Amino acid sequence: MKENVIYWSKYFIPTTKEIPAGTEAASHQLLLRAGLVNMLTSGVYSYLPLGLRVLRRVEDIIREEMNRAGACEVFLPCLQPIELWQTTKRDEALKEIMIRFKDNRGREMCLGPTHEEVITALVKDYVQSYRQLPVTLYQIQTKFRDELRTRFGIVRANEFMMKDAYSFDRDETGLKKNYQLMYEAYEKVFQRCGLKVVIVKADSGAMGGDVSHEFLVIAPIGEDHVLQCDACHFAMGSSMSTEQAACPQCQNGKLQKQIAIELGHVFQLGTKYTDALKVVFLDEDGQQKPIIMGCYGIGVSRLVAAIIETNRDDAGIVWPREVAPFDVEILLVQDDPQLTPLAQSYAQQLQEVGLKVLVDDRLESPGRKFKDADLIGIPYRIILGKRTLQEGKVEVKDRKTLATTMFTKNDLIKEFLKIWKATC
Ligand SMILES: Nc1ncnc2c1ncn2[C@@H]1O[C@H](COP(=O)(O)OP(=O)(O)O)[C@@H](O)[C@H]1O
Ligand SMILES: [Mg+2]
Ligand SMILES: [Zn+2]
Repeated sequence: MKENVIYWSKYFIPTTKEIPAGTEAASHQLLLRAGLVNMLTSGVYSYLPLGLRVLRRVEDIIREEMNRAGACEVFLPCLQPIELWQTTKRDEALKEIMIRFKDNRGREMCLGPTHEEVITALVKDYVQSYRQLPVTLYQIQTKFRDELRTRFGIVRANEFMMKDAYSFDRDETGLKKNYQLMYEAYEKVFQRCGLKVVIVKADSGAMGGDVSHEFLVIAPIGEDHVLQCDACHFAMGSSMSTEQAACPQCQNGKLQKQIAIELGHVFQLGTKYTDALKVVFLDEDGQQKPIIMGCYGIGVSRLVAAIIETNRDDAGIVWPREVAPFDVEILLVQDDPQLTPLAQSYAQQLQEVGLKVLVDDRLESPGRKFKDADLIGIPYRIILGKRTLQEGKVEVKDRKTLATTMFTKNDLIKEFLKIWKATC
């Protein structure tokens, strides 16, 4: 979607210099300092314009990959009756994290910590025949979990965004096929978000013999661990207790325990929920059979934190291209009648070819503007200063490599678009 050029002076990006108190994770500090999120109370966050733009871009990548894999988007309610949860006994199993209450009509309700029960009840309402299968439904929706220990800002919150998908199949073969499609879609999502994930076969102990994989990113913070080879980077789950075992993939590598953040989880559920809710279909052979399910989750808001945690330097965030809140920042060094129309003209031309442009036209010191630009981490910066412009030059800075290049004023757009396309 094409949008207007955005002027910082009329926008809302409340950046701060100070490191916020009570924050341990770099991503948490940057989320607050770059004006992406605001904490209402522990574990509960508001998304400010810049943070929301990133969240929406991540959501759109997920939507594209889910749709490509054949999943259909729905939107399920957060507000759910406890009765439904009693059918699977998960009102008990998830008691610790469930936010429940009685409404004014006396109904026992909860705010959904997850949606297996709701989606299974929904499918029961419509699917009767094998002709209606397979089907995969997904949503991007707020989840509520009464986590006792919220941590690292939006990494573990009480209210957060999740993409959850659910597949419904006639048989195991169908489930395996859908599982594979989701697995591949996940790989694409994380890669497009600029994340190098490790995929490990998850411990399925408590859940029975079902197949499950976790997608994690190795980072300085996190609540999970993986074992990674120091030579070939092969990784595996850390349920294995030997801490410095030999690598099964190469000759002389050693497995090292690494901290990781869990970003996604795919699960071959089987008939746990469809049995509990008695969801059957009439198969081609005339038999009534339970529908076979898979479920697939991505922590969308957690992903934003993980992107920052793994894409930053001492000065601030270094957004991967596809999730950056803007593509280009045009920075006006001075408030000058010569610079303003040029900035507007550049911005207009970039916007017309589909780039998202932020113009820093604030009446702030150049030092502050440069620091803020590093902090918010837009991939490219076009710097308009009086001195360079007297020589007919404009500077372009790459946020990632920190390389700067001078271009003549009239060639700027043409030359910049060359760089832009070359680094796609
Ligand atoms: N409290 C939370 N805050 C933010 N994201 C979360 C939280 N809990 C789970 N997630 C995200 O949602 C994804 C799917 O959730 P799930 O596997 O059900 O969570 P868990 O592994 O905590 O049981 C997780 O992989 C994670 O990315
Ligand atoms: Mg999980
Ligand atoms: Zn190895």
